[in-house]
Order: sequence, then C-alpha cells, then structure tokens
Amino acid sequence: MNDLCTVILAAGQGTRMRSKLPKVLHPVAGLPMIAHVIEACRPFQAKRTLAIVGHQADRVKQALAGEAIEFVAQPEQRGTAHALLQTREALAGFDGDLLVVSGDTPLLTSQTLDGVLRAHRDTRALATVLTAELPDPTGYGRVIRSATGGLLRIVEELEAAPQERRIREINAGVYCFAAHALFEALQAIRPSAVKGELYLPDAIALLRDRDGGVQAHRILDPDEVRGINTRAELAEIHRLLWRKAARRLLAEGVTLLDPERAYIGPLVRIGPDSILYPNVILEGQTVIGEGTTIYSGCRIRNSTIGDDSVILDGCIIQESQIGDGCQVGPYAHLRPEARLRQHAKVGNFVEVKKSVVGEGSKVPHLSYIGDTTIGKRVNVGAGTITCNYDGFTKHRTVIEDDVFVGSDVILVAPVSIGRGAIIAAGSTITEDVPPDALAFGRARQTNKSGAAEVFRSKHRKG
Ligand code: UD1
Ligand code: CA
Repeated sequence: MNDLCTVILAAGQGTRMRSKLPKVLHPVAGLPMIAHVIEACRPFQAKRTLAIVGHQADRVKQALAGEAIEFVAQPEQRGTAHALLQTREALAGFDGDLLVVSGDTPLLTSQTLDGVLRAHRDTRALATVLTAELPDPTGYGRVIRSATGGLLRIVEELEAAPQERRIREINAGVYCFAAHALFEALQAIRPSAVKGELYLPDAIALLRDRDGGVQAHRILDPDEVRGINTRAELAEIHRLLWRKAARRLLAEGVTLLDPERAYIGPLVRIGPDSILYPNVILEGQTVIGEGTTIYSGCRIRNSTIGDDSVILDGCIIQESQIGDGCQVGPYAHLRPEARLRQHAKVGNFVEVKKSVVGEGSKVPHLSYIGDTTIGKRVNVGAGTITCNYDGFTKHRTVIEDDVFVGSDVILVAPVSIGRGAIIAAGSTITEDVPPDALAFGRARQTNKSGAAEVFRSKHRKG
C-alpha cells in the first residue's frame, strides 16, 4: 500500500481541555494521545506521514522525535480544512490516496483504518469518510444522507438545524481522499457561518457530484471513534481502554482480581496464569510473562518482567527488565535500566538505577544501588548503599559473583569487589577489594568498663 500518504491533524490548541499542554500530547494510558493514532497508522507503511502542527508546534515535534514524520506548520488554526491545505506544497505531485486522521481519536484501530482504505479503494471514490452511530452524538458533525441512503454532506453541530441534531450517525474525523481531487475541493471551502473556520467535512458535499463521488463507511464499534475534546471525555476514554484491555487479558488467561480496578494500557502484554491484584497500573510497552503475580499499588512502565516472578505491593518500575523467578518489593523503586537476572530479589525500600542484579543475587532491605553491576549469588546486606555520585560525575561499582556484603556498607564508587570477598557490616569501602578477601572499613570499637555509670552520676549531680 505504498501509494498512500497519511496526514495527522494536530495543530489545534484544544481549548476545551483548559490546559497548558497541547491537547494531542495529553497522555492516554501513559502515551501522548497522538502516539496512539500513529500506532494505528503504522501497519499501512504509508510512503509518507505528515503531521500538521501549530499550537506549541515545537512541543509536539519534540514529543514525536524519532518517528518518521514530516511536520507541516499551520501557524494560525483556521479550521481542519485549512490545516489540510497546508500540505498542498509538500504533497505536490502526489497522486495516490490520502488517509487523514485527527490526533485526538486515540482509540482508532488499524483494522478500522484498513476498512476505510479498502472501501475507498474498492469503489474508487474521491472521498470515503468513516462514520458511526453514537447513542449520544453531542459535539460531533452529523452525517446527512439522501432518501436513498447516499451520503450528501456533513453538518457541524453548531450549524445543524434541530432535526439534524437528532441524527445519531456522526463523522468520526477519519477520511480517505483521492489526492488529485482533494486540494481543489479544499480551496472551494468557504468559512463557516458560525465559527468562521474552514471545515474539512465540507469537502464531502463539494466532491459528491463529481465522478467517483463520496461514500460513508460505517463502523460497528462506536467507541473507537471517540474524539477527546474535554477532560471528561479523556476520563471516559481511559475507562473504555482499561475495560478493553481487561477483557482481552481475561480472555487470554490472566487473572484480574478486580477487572474494574485494573489500569492496563493497550500495548501491554501479559502471559497466561499471571495474577493482578487490584489497583495495578501498567503503562506503555510493558510485557509480563506467565505465572507472574503483581500485587496492589504497583506502577510499571515500559518494562519487561519474566515468568513466575512476584512483584509485591507498592512498587514503581520504569524502563527496567526483570527476569524469571524474581521477587521485587514491597515498596521497591526500579528506575530506568535496572536489570534483574533470574531469581534475583530486590526487597523493601530498595532503589535500583542503571544496574544489574545478577542471577540469584539479593538486595533485600533499605538499599540504594546505582550504576552498579552485581554478579551471581551476591548478598547485599540491609542498608547498604553505593555512593555513585561525587557531585559532578557518576561512577560505577562492580560486585563480582559470590560476594557477601554485610549490613550498612557504603561503597564509594568507583570501586570493585572481587569474587567471593566478604565486606564487614558497617564498612565504608573506598578501595578495591581483592577476590576472597575479608574487608573491614570501620573504626575499632572500644568498651570502657563502668564509664556509663560515671557518666550518669555526673549528669544527675548537674
Ligand atoms: C471534528 C469534525 C467533526 C467530527 C469530529 C470527530 C471538523 C470541522 N469537524 O470536530 O465533524 O465529528 O472532528 O472527532 O473537522 N486541527 C488542526 N487545525 C485547526 C483545527 C483543528 O490541526 O485549525 C486539528 C486538531 O488539533 C484536532 C483535529 O484537527 O486534532 C480535529 O479538530 P477538533 O477541533 O477537535 O474538531 P472537532 O470539533 O472535534
Ligand atoms: Ca475533536
């Protein structure tokens, strides 16, 4: 399908959101709204993808850096037709099909877009518009059909007559256009009477009587086309997304103790026989294996967790990888690039950042492990921390296989602990420890016999 270009409309401010953030960047299930739309378009491998940006364009561009998207500026937002007109120069000479979507309809699926494209190509229409019948069509453009059911035009709610407002078939804001016919039609669009904007749906009436004509492609699942214009709609969309993910996972063999309290993003995958307790938030491209249990209050983002692991209550896990048979938490914080190899354990109130915890190694209580490589079968005692930062640079700590680190040890990086070494509790380690050595790095204790009683009686007299 490489005779296809995609255009994403994303220049509007989204006034009704009452936000400093451009509407299309508001997160939906942990990803900017517009990222979901891009994801839905991806399988078509369009020759080019253009995004129209305007309001806070730089911020939108920055959020999409790394995507193969060409940005086209619409400095003044004078309506959706005006937005599409801005691509005229960029698309000069292009004669294929143009798929036009809005950046604010994050539930659209690739299947639906595929349906629109197929319908468009089968009939060789000049324009195909996606429509849906909504129980409550408020806010959407209404689809006006002839007595015989043919598509006539689309009227915006503000301009609709009372009997037109009763129509429940709405414009989903997804279109396929034959590029050669589109730009001529766009130029013929006049500003709307009420808002003074150039409305893209007006192109339908203008193309209707030309060879090829126009058509509506109606979808069955009306939830998919929901656009987000307000915070209330954003909340509704989240509820829909979570329900959908919950249904999918239940069908795939995952136990959700309370499906209405499972906050799982659409890209998350979980293997069968895994169990989720209530109030778990799973965001982004998170993948969880089979037979893993995640307890309440965990938030996990863009991370991978293997099979048969247990994540106890209250953990935050970001951009991290956890192997099979691991145990994490309660109340652990795995920051980006934490890697737990199989059967590793990271316990209560432990923070791990940019570090590897090797196979079978344990950091059970109250530790900070940053910029560290821990080998296999290492035990890190309670309260141990790595001092990775001297105020200017980050330094690495290396702890080789079979090391035993006693409780409350301070490892001042850069420092290496050789295989099989033992570090005495309470040590401050500033120099490398050779393999199999026993390292003490603490002041020697002195006991002054009877001195406590002397101390007390002095204070009693005072
Ligand atoms: C639009 C449609 C409406 C349809 C609904 C579906 C128009 C006039 N109306 O209404 O028929 O039912 O979508 O969700 O098209 N944008 C620009 N530049 C502009 C204006 C808007 O890029 O000058 C972008 C916005 O950022 C947004 C998209 O176009 O992503 C749609 O704009 P929005 O204002 O949300 O249109 P609706 O009122 O929802
Ligand atoms: Ca909208």
